[in-house]
Amino acid sequence: MTLKPLPLRPVLLATAITALVALTLATVPAVAQDHVGQYEQADIEFGASLYNANCTRCHGEAGDEVAGTDLASGQYARVESDQELMRLIRMGIQGTAMPPNDFNQSELTGIVSYLRSMRDFDLSAVRLGDEARGEQLFNGKGACATCHRVRGQGPRTAPDLTDIGSIRTAATLQAALLDPTGTMIPVNRPVRAVLGDGTVVNGRRLNEDTYAIQLIDENERLRSLEKATLRELTAVTTSPMPPASDALDEQEVADVLAYLLTLQGLQ
Ligand code: HEC
Ligand code: HEC
Repeated sequence: MTLKPLPLRPVLLATAITALVALTLATVPAVAQDHVGQYEQADIEFGASLYNANCTRCHGEAGDEVAGTDLASGQYARVESDQELMRLIRMGIQGTAMPPNDFNQSELTGIVSYLRSMRDFDLSAVRLGDEARGEQLFNGKGACATCHRVRGQGPRTAPDLTDIGSIRTAATLQAALLDPTGTMIPVNRPVRAVLGDGTVVNGRRLNEDTYAIQLIDENERLRSLEKATLRELTAVTTSPMPPASDALDEQEVADVLAYLLTLQGLQ
């Protein structure tokens, strides 16, 4: 299965509806909750690959090979909420064969999304992106490395992606790739400053306080501007990043996503 582009507005709407439904359900005691539809496809697929690599040897593909445990049932003996489930997966179960795991937040989100969708998800049909190909596309055809820095390599004009795989979930990253403008977070908004003499400086904000702003301009120079001397200072709301689908096909976007998920800091 390849990653499908997420229709963003409907996703937002669906999130709002899910939140409403969750609120309503919260007032009804002990209803067997149906989780289908609550989890993002990209997270489920990421989780499926992690499950396959880390859990099948004991729990099996269908999740029912440990006696008394049926991971696909959505009902667990020891835990109920997603938070508790993540904690159990991280800590393991002392005194049993269930080991602790060193997963980060996006990996835990993926695994739980997958466990909650396991019943309806065919593990053998998962065709995740290829990390190695993704890295090549990042540096080549996708031209990502012309703007982004990874582990000390590349320009500073766009956010450094060295640890992006541990701070964003698979679904968030996929959305960022396909719709850069729609998903731009405020701290990443480029700024446009007009100096007293009319010179325009476009750049990426590093720091800002009441009196001054520090930014990296388009030529990668560090600039510190005193706000009182500026004619104009605005946050740009259109991302300078082209959607990844401009240069890459669906499988290639999945490959780049798989690569981004391996970026976990300077290890
Ligand atoms: C080395 C074998 C082993 C591996 C690997 C393993 N588990 Fe387990 N797991 C167990 C055993 C055994 C239990 C049952 C412990 C008990 O309750 O006695 C268990 C229990 C669980 C439970 C609790 C079920 C319940 O009903 O409360 C969850 C959830 C779980 N495992 C998820 C996972 C996930 C997700 C992975 C992969 C990241 C994983 N396990 C990897 C052996 C394993
Ligand atoms: C023309 C420069 C440019 C190119 C090319 C570019 N990006 Fe970006 N990218 C940016 C800028 C600027 C931002 C910050 C604003 C935003 O979020 O859109 C960004 C944001 C991102 C984010 C979100 C970061 C966060 O903090 O969540 C990811 C992920 C990303 N880019 C990955 C990529 C990948 C992968 C490619 C190649 C397919 C790529 N970018 C190509 C400039 C670029």
